[in-house]
Amino acid sequence: PVLVVDFGAQYAQLIARRVREAQVYSEVVPHTAAVDELLAKNPAAIILSGGPSSVYEEGAPAMDPALVEAGVPVFGICYGFQLLASALGGTVEATGAREYGRTEVKVTGDGGVLHDELPTRHPAWMSHGDSVTKAPEGAVVTATSDGAPVAGFEDTGRRIAGVQYHPEVGHSPHGQEVLRRFLHEIAGIRPQWTTASIVEDQVAKIAAQVGDGRAICGLSGGVDSAVAAALVQRAIGDRLTCVFVDHGLLRAGERTQVERDFVAATGVNLVTVDARERFMDALAGVTDPEQKRKIIGREFIRVFEQAERDLKAEGDYRFLVQGTLYPDVVESGGGAGTSNIKSHHNVGGLPEDLAFELVEPLRLLFKDEVRRVGLELGLPETIVHRQPFPGPGLGIRIIGEVTPERLATLRSADAIAREELTAAGMDRDIWQCPVVLLADVRSVGVQGDGRTYGHPVVLRPVSSEDAMTADWTRLPYEVLERISTRITNEVADVNRVVLDVTSKPPGTIEWE
Ligand code: XMP
Repeated sequence: PVLVVDFGAQYAQLIARRVREAQVYSEVVPHTAAVDELLAKNPAAIILSGGPSSVYEEGAPAMDPALVEAGVPVFGICYGFQLLASALGGTVEATGAREYGRTEVKVTGDGGVLHDELPTRHPAWMSHGDSVTKAPEGAVVTATSDGAPVAGFEDTGRRIAGVQYHPEVGHSPHGQEVLRRFLHEIAGIRPQWTTASIVEDQVAKIAAQVGDGRAICGLSGGVDSAVAAALVQRAIGDRLTCVFVDHGLLRAGERTQVERDFVAATGVNLVTVDARERFMDALAGVTDPEQKRKIIGREFIRVFEQAERDLKAEGDYRFLVQGTLYPDVVESGGGAGTSNIKSHHNVGGLPEDLAFELVEPLRLLFKDEVRRVGLELGLPETIVHRQPFPGPGLGIRIIGEVTPERLATLRSADAIAREELTAAGMDRDIWQCPVVLLADVRSVGVQGDGRTYGHPVVLRPVSSEDAMTADWTRLPYEVLERISTRITNEVADVNRVVLDVTSKPPGTIEWE
């Protein structure tokens, strides 16, 4: 693999994704890893990420020159670039010229390999206080900027290179090409990490792990569990059984999507448990958001455990498939060793004491790779490009008690909003658009010749990278107007549509 050493930048995962876009497999490792540990992974190259420290600060994370002496190709970015320079005898100084944001980079000399034939002056994203003022002995300077006397250097003999700017961000339009040239041309790595190879590798791994055993997979209707299940199905065929719990809090069409579209695409064994009544009984009279979430989680586990017992009576289901993704693995500290299940990774929060061995075929993948794998496996677009939907479903989008009537009302309003957003081609522009029913609020309206006294629904369109922060999406007025007109005309009990214009923070995406 290519190892991306994380010096505390929020960019390390992004760098790893960019490397994979160049069809080279990459992993993120903490900067505390010793040289021996890094070399033990037999790295094809090492990329030193940016970070908040200054090379000269007491206790600042360092780079061991032994890495370069071992002959591993090394690429430095921002802080990593300065580390590389100073470790190899170059000079890093606080020149007083800081650069933050969009900056003009000038290509010098013939541009070397990295900057060859790029526009002589082009924009790149910078974020630095210190600068490299002298490149290491033997390295050629191929880029400079007003604030960075050395903005890029390379030594193709020793296979080391780096840039002061951030090639991994979209604001550096030639950044991806520069990274690609380092990987393919300076480090000499063959691009082999393709969707087809991912599928092939994972299928072989699953087959080896499960042997002639049986596996069970909880489907949530979301992308991750669907792709994980499809991969396992490819590996072990009908020794996989999927369990889908219909808790009655699903949106219009979701059960069909799983029962018909997913099964048609994969031929998987599917057990649907109709637990609608059970959830409705458990939620009767409950209005507190946290209590709703707890009840839904608890009932989900009970239903799943029952399904598991029923299945185990038929055969030995020793494996449980989970759709854990690589960012979760990195964030929970690792990659190595046994998996540490965080409650939000589990479909509906399955308890840890379920006696299963975990199969996690997406543990190495980023979300965009998961989607491509899904398409490669023949899953329909409606599943692969589905927007996030919370496990507790519509239950936390009815503010007030959850009842079957209110669910029907919200389901109709939500279906209209989704239809119109799709028709307007907005699906890829928004992260998701919860529709929320304010079931305990009423307002006066007029429709036809009569007075109405109905409920409002809230549209909550948001744009986000990762759901940790979000902004409200500026939807075109015509789209908002169509959604509003249709909902108030077509959904009985709803006489007002309002728009949530709060970012996150301070608001969360969901209302409960
Ligand atoms: P909030 O409301 O915290 O939501 O801003 C962030 C993202 O997480 C989704 N969400 C959930 N997903 N189980 C899930 O699987 C949950 O209990 C849950 N609660 C919120 C939400 O839709 C948004 O994408």
